[in-house]
Amino acid sequence: MKLAAVVLAAGLGTRMKSSLPKVLHPLFGRSMVQYVVEALLALGAEKTIVVTGPNGDGIRNALQDCPVSFAVQKEPRGTGDALKAAAAKLRGFRGTVLVVSGDTPLVKAATLNAFLKLHSKNRLELSLISFVAEGPHSYGRIIRTGKKLGAIIEDKNASEEQKRIREVNSGIYAIEHHLLKLLNKIPVDRVKGEYYLTDMVGLSVAAGCRTGAFRLGNERELTGINTREDLYRATHYLKDEIIDGFMEKGVRFIDKPSVFIDPEASIGVETVIYPNVHIEGRTSVGRRCVVYSNSRITDSTIGDNVIIKDSTVIESSSVEEGASVGPFAHIRPGSIIGRHARIGNFVEVKKSVIGRGTKASHLSYLGDAEIGEQVNIGAGTITCNYDGKTKHKTLIGSNAFIGSDTQFVAPVTVGEGAYVGAGSTITKDIPPLALAISRTAQQNIEKWAVKRQNRRGEKPETTRGKKSKARD
Ligand code: UD1
Ligand code: MG
Repeated sequence: MKLAAVVLAAGLGTRMKSSLPKVLHPLFGRSMVQYVVEALLALGAEKTIVVTGPNGDGIRNALQDCPVSFAVQKEPRGTGDALKAAAAKLRGFRGTVLVVSGDTPLVKAATLNAFLKLHSKNRLELSLISFVAEGPHSYGRIIRTGKKLGAIIEDKNASEEQKRIREVNSGIYAIEHHLLKLLNKIPVDRVKGEYYLTDMVGLSVAAGCRTGAFRLGNERELTGINTREDLYRATHYLKDEIIDGFMEKGVRFIDKPSVFIDPEASIGVETVIYPNVHIEGRTSVGRRCVVYSNSRITDSTIGDNVIIKDSTVIESSSVEEGASVGPFAHIRPGSIIGRHARIGNFVEVKKSVIGRGTKASHLSYLGDAEIGEQVNIGAGTITCNYDGKTKHKTLIGSNAFIGSDTQFVAPVTVGEGAYVGAGSTITKDIPPLALAISRTAQQNIEKWAVKRQNRRGEKPETTRGKKSKARD
């Protein structure tokens, strides 16, 4: 079968109450139209044409990596008029034209394939996918005469009796090329002033063409998105399907409803996901990991046996096997947390490499740093990586021991096995195995407090033996 595919995506989407074209609204990280095009590209059509409005740059950008071409509908004068814009690019094409609405993102390539097979097996000239809608939707109703498809009546034009029909139009059609000429016969609708593609059905029936409607897929898959409520519902359908898929593959969820996993993410067996976890973009989480509550992992690679403790954010980074991150840690883009390394409470890591077995357990900022293996980073260590103009690197060799509250004024290098005394500000390179200490020496001034009180004429006193006020 010769196949061309058309996506209708030029509508304004007024019901979304948004300046963004409707088909660019996202489900997880990707826009509706990207899902639709992905399903269509799997069919191997000769041509895939996306119909946009005159300001279609957003849609073109979203689809810049896809082998599709574009047609422009000058004004949004209805779905019939939109297909006409694509038909102008199909002159000379002989075969079946598959038309899909850009606001039906959950449709699967398998359903479209099954539909096209039925269309050609039954030698139909125009057919469509219908489904039974449970909810109070504004879909076009399928009017049958006996079993035969007669027409589609839009919700706005339907009588009370017709509104009770639950078999509805999915907005997905297969049309033989020679019927495209009927597009010119579509009358303008009195209620909305638009040219309805759905009127092609009645016109085809009247012209004695072979038409049919196939009930394929279900409401979840074929849901059309017109409002934010529809978008919310569709996102949740997709989310449930993704999580159920991971459960089948052996992932454990403590609380499915609060977890969001991107369709492009992967998770290994026996990993446990706690409530309110968001796994976004192309993230892969290994096997036997635990991701605790309120964490967000975006475009990152997490190895096997990793523990992500509560309220941790990981972005465009990789965490290698057996490492542990969090609670309350922030791993910013370009970081690598090595095998069995430990990044603890309130530690921020940016564009840094943390070597195998290295620990930064508390309250640190490690930015533009390369830290070797088995290094101990004391609490409160800070890399001063920015001089107001440029970012500089801090290099710390393996087996170094960094005392608490150290500041590294980068660029600076710490040799392997070196020690830094707590509270130091390091401005010069430290040779391997050396001790660097830069704090001022401590002085104890004996009886200083007593002298101070005497100076002020106060009675000397110590707290010893006094009742604590706090306990009164
Ligand atoms: C449409 C169908 C309805 C069907 C439903 C399925 C018509 C008249 N009605 O209704 O029978 O049950 O889809 O979801 O076709 N578009 C354009 N140019 C326009 C208008 C729309 O390209 O001038 C595009 C939109 O971007 C959208 C698609 O066509 O992707 C469908 O338009 P929409 O306004 O959502 O139609 P519905 O009211 O949902
Ligand atoms: Mg719609």
